[in-house]
Amino acid sequence: MISANETKMPVTHNAPLLRDTMARSLQRELDSLKAEGLHRRLRQVDGPQGPRISVDGTEAIHFAGSDYLGLACHPRLKQAACQATMRYGCGVASARLISGNHDLYPQLEERLACFKQAEAALLFSTGYQANLGVLSALVGSQDVVFSDALNHASIVDGCRLSRAQVRIVPHNDLAALERLLERERSARRRLVVVDSLYSMDGDVAPLAQIVELAERYDCVTMVDDSHGTGVLGKTGRGAAEAAGVLGRIDIETGSLAKALGGFGGYVVASRTVIEYLINRARPFIFTCALPSAVVATVLEALAVMEDEPERRQRLWDNTRYMRIRLREIGFDVNPNGTQIIPLVAGEPERAMRFCQELLSRGVFAQGIRYPSVPRGTERIRLTVTASHNRADLDIALTALAEAGRAVQLI
Ligand SMILES: Cc1ncc(COP(=O)(O)O)c(C=O)c1O
Repeated sequence: MISANETKMPVTHNAPLLRDTMARSLQRELDSLKAEGLHRRLRQVDGPQGPRISVDGTEAIHFAGSDYLGLACHPRLKQAACQATMRYGCGVASARLISGNHDLYPQLEERLACFKQAEAALLFSTGYQANLGVLSALVGSQDVVFSDALNHASIVDGCRLSRAQVRIVPHNDLAALERLLERERSARRRLVVVDSLYSMDGDVAPLAQIVELAERYDCVTMVDDSHGTGVLGKTGRGAAEAAGVLGRIDIETGSLAKALGGFGGYVVASRTVIEYLINRARPFIFTCALPSAVVATVLEALAVMEDEPERRQRLWDNTRYMRIRLREIGFDVNPNGTQIIPLVAGEPERAMRFCQELLSRGVFAQGIRYPSVPRGTERIRLTVTASHNRADLDIALTALAEAGRAVQLI
C-alpha cells in the first residue's frame, strides 16, 4: 500500500518550460472558454461507482455514469479481475501482434462474435480507438462516408483521420440519407455510419430502415452500439437485435466500459474485415494489449448478463418510471425513451447552474456543453441504471423539480 505521504510528490512547474508566446496564447484560449461558460475542470470522485457516489466531497445519488446494469462493482466481475491478475500479472507490456496475445483475448473475441452473431471480433484498447481504427483503415480519400450529424466524437475523428469524403446526414433523416446515397454512386467504397443509441440524446437510430437502404444502394453499414449493448434487444445483444437486423450490420463497434462494466472496445464483422483490421488498423497495431484483468472482467460480465436478465428488466422499469414522472413534473421528456434522458437547458451557464442546483440537493447529473453537444443545446444528461432503487428515484425527482424551477426550466 502507498502511504498518504508517499503520494505527495514534490510539485514541479512545467509552465516556465513552455515558450512565452505559446503559454500566453494557451491562456487566452482558456480565458475565452471561461468567458463562454465552456471551461471544464475535473471533479473528484471518491469510492466505487454505484447508485450513490461522493463527488467533490458531496454524497449524491448518481445519474451521470454509464454502468447501466450495475456490473462495474459486481462481485463476480471483481473476482474475475483479481484471478486474472494473479495468473497473468497487471500489465501486458506488449502489443497483440508481438508478445501480448495471451489466451484470454481470443476467448473474449469468440464470445463477443457469438453474442453479436457475427463471424469474428477484435478487441481494441477503447471504444474510441475502435472507431478510429475501423474508419482510418477501411476508407480513404477515394471513398465516401455518410455520417449522422450527432455521431460520437470518435466517429467524427475517425472520419477525419481516414481522409474520406464525409457527407453529414441530418440526424436520423432517412430521406436525406437516400438522396446522398443516390448522388454518391461512383465512389470506390461507401460506408454509412451511425450511433445506435445516441449518447447525448438517448434516441435510437432507425436501424432496420438504414440497413434496408444500405443494402439497396450496396453501401457498407457501420454501427456504434456502445450504449445499446447490454441494454437493447430481448437478450441485450443490442440495437441490431432490437431492430430485427442481427447479422445484417456489416461492422459493429462499441465500448466495453458502459453496460458491461469493464473497459476496452470491440469490433464485430466478417472474418475478412477483422483480418484486414489486424493488418491495417493502426490504433490496434501500435498499442499495448489490454490488461488481462480487463479482458477477464468483460468475459464474466457477458456471463452475468446471461445469468441475471432481471437487471435489464430493472433498468427498463426504472427508465420508464423516471421518464413518466419527469414528464408529469413538466420536463419535455418522451415517456417511451431509453435510459439516457436529456433535459435541455439551452445555454452552457444555465446547464451548469442546473447541475449545481441538483448537486446541492444531493443529486449528481453532469451538465453537458459544446462540443459534446451542438451549441445552444447544452443540457443535463441523466442516466438511469438498474442499481437505482425507487427511493433514490423519488428523491432525485423531488430535487429535479426544485432545481428545474430554480433555473426556470419548468
Ligand atoms: C457512442 C460512443 N462511442 C464511443 C465511445 C468511446 O468509448 P470508450 O470510452 O470505450 O473509449 C463512447 C463513450 O465515451 C460513446 O458514447
